[in-house]
Amino acid sequence: MKKSQIDNNVYLYPMPVVLVGTMIEGKANFMAVGWVRRVNFLPPMIAIVINIAHYTPKGIQENGSFSVNIPGRSMLEETDYCGLVSGKTTDKSELFELFFGKIPTAPMIEDCPLNIECRLVQTVELPSNYLFIGEIVGAYCEDRFLTDGKPDIKKMDPFVLSMPDNRYWSVGEHIGNAWSIGKKLKAK
Ligand SMILES: Cc1cc2nc3c(=O)[nH]c(=O)nc-3n(C[C@H](O)[C@H](O)[C@H](O)COP(=O)(O)O)c2cc1C
Repeated sequence: MKKSQIDNNVYLYPMPVVLVGTMIEGKANFMAVGWVRRVNFLPPMIAIVINIAHYTPKGIQENGSFSVNIPGRSMLEETDYCGLVSGKTTDKSELFELFFGKIPTAPMIEDCPLNIECRLVQTVELPSNYLFIGEIVGAYCEDRFLTDGKPDIKKMDPFVLSMPDNRYWSVGEHIGNAWSIGKKLKAK
């Protein structure tokens, strides 16, 4: 089988798509983010990677906080819009109905099935991006998106991103249980 060498790019499939919320000059601002990852077990921490030129870093640095909101499929257009326009030139504060948890500078979106508020614990300055690490101080989910008290991916219906072709995808079928299906091979 012949493999072709292709461009050096970051081929990680798929990427989650979230809306990162901040308060900047008294107004809420939201941007679409695909570069987001769990980075610490206890206490639970999330890392987001944001281009230095964007408006969002201003809010995160000034307040030491941000929110991570997971949109469902019905919010595809609004989410993409938040990735097309900058708060530097466009007011995105009226787009969504908001609520706040423990942190007054981490605005969260009512319509998103899942919301997480974070306190900034560390910033890593990379050549073109900031890597912001936040500790989760609160997470919120409507009962209708829960099964046995846990967020249910099928009910939340989030969408994912592929890069570099820049396409959105829905989540597919449940194909097995993690830390479980591989046990069959242990017996051999
Ligand atoms: C689906 C999608 C994912 C994106 N992911 C990121 C990301 O992870 N990091 C980033 O810096 N910009 C990302 N962007 C671009 C920003 O969302 C976009 O530049 C936005 O306008 C920045 O908003 P702000 O200037 O108000 O902070 C993404 C855009 C889209 C459409």
